[in-house]
Amino acid sequence: DHLSSTRNNESRYVEPLSAAAALLANGKLVAFPTETVYGLGADARNTDAVAGIFEAKGRPSDNPLIVHIADRSELDAFVEDVSEADEKLMAAFWPGPLTLVLPVRPGALSPKVTAGLDTVAVRMPDHPVALELIRASGCPLAAPSANRSGRPSPTLASHVWEDLNGRIDGIVDGGPAGVGVESTVVRTDAYGGATVLRPGGISVAELSQVLEAPVNQVSADHGADIDPEAAMGTGEAAELSPIQAGLPQADHSNRLVDEAKEAAATNEAPRSPGMKYTHYAPSGQLEVVIGSDQRVETEIRERLVAARMRGEKTGVLAFDEHLAFYKELSDVALSLGSKHDLREAASRLYAALRQFDEQKTTYMLAEGCSEDGIGLAIMNRMSKAAGGRIHRV
Ligand code: TXA
Ligand code: MG
Repeated sequence: DHLSSTRNNESRYVEPLSAAAALLANGKLVAFPTETVYGLGADARNTDAVAGIFEAKGRPSDNPLIVHIADRSELDAFVEDVSEADEKLMAAFWPGPLTLVLPVRPGALSPKVTAGLDTVAVRMPDHPVALELIRASGCPLAAPSANRSGRPSPTLASHVWEDLNGRIDGIVDGGPAGVGVESTVVRTDAYGGATVLRPGGISVAELSQVLEAPVNQVSADHGADIDPEAAMGTGEAAELSPIQAGLPQADHSNRLVDEAKEAAATNEAPRSPGMKYTHYAPSGQLEVVIGSDQRVETEIRERLVAARMRGEKTGVLAFDEHLAFYKELSDVALSLGSKHDLREAASRLYAALRQFDEQKTTYMLAEGCSEDGIGLAIMNRMSKAAGGRIHRV
């Protein structure tokens, strides 16, 4: 019986959707498409199932998961005190790539989902397969991105297969995920404003327009003023720690840097979830170049020439308008699409990073972009993949 396949056996693509829903209802792990990236789902109320997610991904247990729902009415079972600001954001952006951090109802979910915090991150994905799967399983689905920790998030079912084959119970193939970067994670405050904890598919401008109140924006460039030691490690866990995201308030982030350093020194767990881990890093060295078109082109060409003289296998990730300038100077030239369409760049980014790893490039250069709209999320992920190595020319 193909439905009784267990973890540790071969994963398999599960058809139809009702079979995948039955696996989830029985405490199994199933990867599924969302409009952002593929998620690895399990019943958020079932501690054994949720523990399986951490195990399959190799994810540190102190990094909490996002719970996915299909209908606003499902929220009240495990969340209390939804503020007016949260209601406004849900009404405007759900279903969609917005995750809200809300007060959790004690005992309603596995404590492993929240990593012991008194809040839970929740979103309603805008993808017909995800919504139908949640409804058919009858479970709130805890679902992190369906990659092994330390790998880029999957935007195709085949990426999930590469990373998790043999470690999960099934994959629902819904074709390419849309947005390509993870959801925006937001926490509203007592004054009707909000803080973006992780930039994503919903922009800061869109949020502040709906809230009609200030929204604290993270800066994508976290690298320059942060001690790399404090951010050392592996895994995807730090996606939303302020130290990684580079919250603009200097005091705040310095305090967090100190906290991380202290924690590293004393071997104590830092207070912010996942702060002691870095994000995905490619096996080669990635650097990002930002500036005027002409200067960026010159800088990248010079760096590619120098890298070749050092004997590197080079990669370049650039907009279509400039790709031809680099082609003969690089071993692997990948496109971000047109520079006039950053949504396209977002949807291509993670697959491109996977391709560099596959081709075993040792030195890669990426063209950066403006931090407007989804550009902030792109620069945030690029900067993390580059370990903060950003050249402004
Ligand atoms: O687009 C997405 O959000 C994808 C798809 C699958 O829905 N999911 C995703 O999950 O990116 P994951 O686990 O890779 O990232 C969840 C982020 C982590 O950075 C985690 O630290 C944060 O959300 N998070 C979860 N619960 C939290 C909480 N209670 N407070 C603060 N941050 C939280
Ligand atoms: Mg992730």
